[in-house]
Amino acid sequence: MTRSSSLLAAALLGLGSVAGAQKLTDAPALADYYRRGGTAVTVIGNYVYLDGGELSQVVDGKPPSNQSYISNMMNSTISIDLSKSWTTSSASLHLIPRPWPSKSNQAIWTDPSAGVFYAWGGKWIRGVNMSENALMKFTPDNRGGGAWAEEPPANPDLFKSLHQSEWGAYANTADTGFLIGGLASGWTEYRRAQTQVLPGMVAFNMKSKTWHNGTAGFSPFDTLNGAAAHFVPNMGPNGLVMVFGGVELPVVGANPDWESAPAFDLRNLTFFDPATNKKYWQVTTGSVPPTPRIQTCVAGFRNQEGGYEIILTGGNNRRDKIVYDDTYILSLPGFVWTRVADSPAGKRMSASCVAVGKRQMLSVGGTRTDWTNRDPAPQGLLLFDMTEMKWKDEYDANAAEYQRSEDIGRWYKNG
Ligand SMILES: *[C@@H]1O[C@H](CO)[C@@H](O)[C@H](O)[C@H]1NC(C)=O
Ligand SMILES: *[C@@H]1O[C@H](CO)[C@@H](O)[C@H](O)[C@H]1NC(C)=O
Ligand SMILES: *[C@@H]1O[C@H](CO)[C@@H](O)[C@H](O)[C@H]1NC(C)=O
Ligand SMILES: *[C@@H]1O[C@H](CO)[C@@H](O)[C@H](O)[C@H]1NC(C)=O
Ligand SMILES: *[C@@H]1O[C@H](CO)[C@@H](O)[C@H](O)[C@H]1NC(C)=O
Repeated sequence: MTRSSSLLAAALLGLGSVAGAQKLTDAPALADYYRRGGTAVTVIGNYVYLDGGELSQVVDGKPPSNQSYISNMMNSTISIDLSKSWTTSSASLHLIPRPWPSKSNQAIWTDPSAGVFYAWGGKWIRGVNMSENALMKFTPDNRGGGAWAEEPPANPDLFKSLHQSEWGAYANTADTGFLIGGLASGWTEYRRAQTQVLPGMVAFNMKSKTWHNGTAGFSPFDTLNGAAAHFVPNMGPNGLVMVFGGVELPVVGANPDWESAPAFDLRNLTFFDPATNKKYWQVTTGSVPPTPRIQTCVAGFRNQEGGYEIILTGGNNRRDKIVYDDTYILSLPGFVWTRVADSPAGKRMSASCVAVGKRQMLSVGGTRTDWTNRDPAPQGLLLFDMTEMKWKDEYDANAAEYQRSEDIGRWYKNG
């Protein structure tokens, strides 16, 4: 019996936990955890931070389906220490109080030189305590804690005119955060009457605190929903922002039809130079991930050969009603996809992925269908070692530098 299944069995037998004593928490015990979703993740220094989203769990001995709400908003920001190794079962989740109600699907931008991250947009869960447009900034204390504060814009008139949304694709360079596309609704914007697909792209300069919004010529897409974006720092003179999956919903009409919207495929990839906003495309080869695909998870790694690899896992195909568990690595500059082992914990959408330590991808949360099926991944955490190309249940704080896997290296050697 593995460590996690024996813990689970102990809990189901009522050993080690007093039956009926569980209270709602943002970090349930291993045996009480069901699902987490819509949570944003980033790394600053020695900690990974989880913010926003909702979760389901056992409360007072009752499974989520027997509770008045099957899922609850997360009220804390969570930190996990990356300076020490841990397993997905033993990882200790440290809770940091959050003074505002938590939102799902928010965009986050990380400023590594200032050592802070920003959260903007997303959906108020159950519409509780909605407020006017505001950008929130988290300043960590680098000991696992930190504090939230509102960050005032340098150009308040433009900022006030911006619609807060969800389902946009976000990424940031060293100085600018981008949010491409998205959808505004009565859940994302205080006192909004109608659901509306937002054209264009928002940019936030993290140094000058200036906001910008633009469509054609500025935004690489007319509309984009449900995609994932990723900044590749070492390709081209200014790096590249790459976009994965998503659909093109029409701007007109109040009820977006996700099932029949044209999907962006993963064979012909779109990306842009974040300094010039010039848009490019490139056709990829290898095992191209099937689409439509929204709510997928990506994380990226700079390799020692001057290239870059991006891992993409899971997601949702609403047209064919498929939730994916397949996993791929896109290698740059070759633009070649390699399929690796499927997720060991099954189908998953709305998870968030981030590079941790030297060469591991950490996936946080994700749901299969709803909140009532227990996640086989302990605490909703999964790890993938990029060099060994293997799923693991152990985070290795002492892993060697990332090197491209032999499989991918061979592709380059063979030209
Ligand atoms: C967070 O706080 C809200 C409001 O008090 C509550 O409804 C919700 O259950 C809390 N969530 C958790 C996980 O404790
Ligand atoms: C959940 O609710 C169902 C239907 O009311 C009931 O039969 C079942 O015993 C409950 N389970 C638990 C663990 O409370
Ligand atoms: C909403 O506001 C009320 C009143 O200020 C407060 O008691 C409650 O905790 C807030 N709920 C959340 C989820 O923040
Ligand atoms: C950005 O500008 C476009 C064009 O004016 C507008 O339709 C869209 O709603 C704006 N985006 C946001 C996030 O406010
Ligand atoms: C790839 O997509 C772009 C639009 O972003 C299009 O202009 C281009 O023709 C496509 N290339 C191929 C080979 O399909």
